[in-house]
Amino acid sequence: MSESVRIVEVGPRDGLQNESSPIDTVTKVHLIDLLTQAGVGYIEAGSFVSPKAIPQMAGSDEVFDGLSRGRGVVYAALTPNMRGYDQAVASGADEVAVFSAASEAFNQRNINCSIAESLARFEPVMEAAARDQIKVRGYVSCVVGCPYEGAISPEQVRDVSQNLLDMGCYEISLGDTIGIGTPGEVATLLELLTQTIRASQLAVHCHDTYGQALANIYVALEHGIRIIDSSVAGLGGCPYADGATGNVASEDVVYMLHGLGYETGIDLDQLIDAGNFISEALDRDNNSRAANAISGKRSGS
Ligand code: HMG
Ligand code: MG
Repeated sequence: MSESVRIVEVGPRDGLQNESSPIDTVTKVHLIDLLTQAGVGYIEAGSFVSPKAIPQMAGSDEVFDGLSRGRGVVYAALTPNMRGYDQAVASGADEVAVFSAASEAFNQRNINCSIAESLARFEPVMEAAARDQIKVRGYVSCVVGCPYEGAISPEQVRDVSQNLLDMGCYEISLGDTIGIGTPGEVATLLELLTQTIRASQLAVHCHDTYGQALANIYVALEHGIRIIDSSVAGLGGCPYADGATGNVASEDVVYMLHGLGYETGIDLDQLIDAGNFISEALDRDNNSRAANAISGKRSGS
């Protein structure tokens, strides 16, 4: 039997949060429905944050309300505090994610507090989630480098990750927010982390700014990591990291994984349809190399 890898599709959140023009709910919902139909098992469908900070995620409640749930599919939301948590649960989010960073400066810009303060803010969220039996994922941003602080030490990433696990997060998504990491740095980071944290509790979340994402994901696979965040059509960026491009494209990750013999449960052709849909809706190029190559073959060009 081949091994499976879980794709965490972050396009509807990490991707769309960074678009400059407004996106209507119908388009967001249709994207999520296409991803569901393609067999994606975990979709980050929105976030319950300040609409002043991230206007594109306003109306995430309507998105949750409108989407057609697939059997067994997890629809998750980002929640920075209790207010976000309450809204996410009321909207029907299956899981939530809290987010901090390994960089003090990034955390200040992103969620207006220190790392320690962010953990304190998450405490009531963790308590409520335990009571409600809602699973909580933890993000750690800037795991290799920070747009404000430069290099980040692997020990700092380990400590923040361990704190989040100790508080009750079931999994840590390691964010290379600005896509700056190279495979050697990612290997060094994962060698340290996996000394004390099980690989099954770690995910990688690679933005592809420097074109390193697939290589870094391959390194993560070699370190036993089987959970990969990605964004259909390579949508996105980070509003608090100038110049950061979108996450690695889901289509490129799935193409690589299937080529390596991993199962994802995803139909690549249907995933490509989802990416082409949202690229056309946003009037932008599809950033997935695999999608463009396969779409080109389909149309005979
Ligand atoms: P704050 O200023 O410290 O907190 O913001 P506050 O409680 O004083 O609230 C400020 C305003 O936000 C108030 O409104 C609140 O009512 C409102 P005002 O009085 O100014 O009109 N507010 C909320 N509104 C809706 N939902 C809420 C909520 N909470 C407060 N839940 C806060 C702190 C976290 C709220 C703010 O900084 C924020 O929302 N930031 C958004 C951060 C964000 O979403 N960033 C992008 C996602 S993270 C990311 O992309 C990285 C990741 O992909 C991994 C990686 O790539 O590394 C995950
Ligand atoms: Mg991100």
